[in-house]
Amino acid sequence: MDRRESRRQFLKFMAASPVMALSQSTRKFAGLGDGPITNPEQAINVFDFEPAAEKTLPPAHWGYLSTGTDDDGTLRANRDGFDLYQLRPRRLIDVRRIDMSTRLFGERYETPIVIAPTGRNQAFHADGELAVARAAKAKSHLQMLSTVASTGVEDVTAARGAPIWYQLYARYDWEITEALVERAEAAGCSAIVLTVDLQGGSNRETNKRFAKLDERECTLCHEPVFQDYIRTKPMFDGLNVPEGSDYGRSLSWDFVRRLREITSVKLLIKGIVRGDDAALAAEAGVDGIVVSNHGGRASASNRSTIECLPEVVEAVGDRMTILIDGGFRRGTDFFKALALGADAVCIGRPYLWGLAAFGQAGVEAVLEILRAELALVMRQAGTKTVAEINSSFLAERFRVQ
Ligand code: FNR
Ligand code: LAC
Repeated sequence: MDRRESRRQFLKFMAASPVMALSQSTRKFAGLGDGPITNPEQAINVFDFEPAAEKTLPPAHWGYLSTGTDDDGTLRANRDGFDLYQLRPRRLIDVRRIDMSTRLFGERYETPIVIAPTGRNQAFHADGELAVARAAKAKSHLQMLSTVASTGVEDVTAARGAPIWYQLYARYDWEITEALVERAEAAGCSAIVLTVDLQGGSNRETNKRFAKLDERECTLCHEPVFQDYIRTKPMFDGLNVPEGSDYGRSLSWDFVRRLREITSVKLLIKGIVRGDDAALAAEAGVDGIVVSNHGGRASASNRSTIECLPEVVEAVGDRMTILIDGGFRRGTDFFKALALGADAVCIGRPYLWGLAAFGQAGVEAVLEILRAELALVMRQAGTKTVAEINSSFLAERFRVQ
């Protein structure tokens, strides 16, 4: 069959399919073909929030949210990586009760789904990080807060109503790092998460392209250059942050050891993608790793995080707590990471889509969908608890080297 013929056949099939027979109102409710969803209940999966967010946001902010690096190869790789693994469900197991509860450093959380730190959430919705915190509270999720958040750690902790984790950008003088850690600990944060994957900078072309489409003048609201802009964020209040800081270009393992000495809560490193680096982190006294490529917005590695996870687990899985993020959008994605040895999984863009489109209600809906999907796949696989999910539930697809 040539391509035109197969296309004709496909269109014939579609015309006869029940999807096309749905009434206009049903199609609208289901978010099919009539533009983005207009309220969170219409969403069938978390992808439904993405076009709704794009529609709401000014182009420059949408570009900032969605960008990867170079031609977005790492961004795509994060999603494609999940296809390398298939599920091997068990049968005839009583799955009436599914328990997704997870322990991280002795603390119990209702699910292993964690909110990743993302900067300047007020660029997406006026309620910003506070809306995210309220949703995290309503649905009982651990939240990590970015150093470049639009709201300070004290207010976000109050909105969350429980200790959060503080993500640290150590880009400046040591005194500034020390002050940020002290402030986060004083606010009750139970962990500091040092992000290390932007040290080399990043080429965010999608961000630049969307910024060109925006007719508004960025400088009316904020500094256009990232380094200058973040100096104005609440976490730097009262600190003398020098102009044109170097993004922490000079950071090294000595810095990590020094940070370890002044940090009295748990310390994690976010952005590790190799087993040998994870082992160095363990030697430096670090408690946990977030296997991450910054959601494909740091280096153009074109390697998915799910593919990085096994070597990290092999190197330090027996002595460190391991989280992962990057492209997690489905219950099956979470399941695969847990099966490969992750203790928990973070999400970034999905909750930002929910936030941009519908504020707190959108974030709650995203969390609800994801936990329902994880519960479903746990039932399907015959795993009643998170601890039961192991590598025997996965098969690895044959790869052409
Ligand atoms: C991020 N990320 C991030 N990470 C970090 O350590 N500090 C930060 O301030 C930010 N800011 C940020 C802003 C935006 C808009 C995005 C999308 C991401 C990375 C984030 O923590 C996480 O690693 C990724 O978002 C995970 O990938 P997904 O779920 O977005 O695919
Ligand atoms: C980003 C920074 C804030 O990814 O981490 O945009």
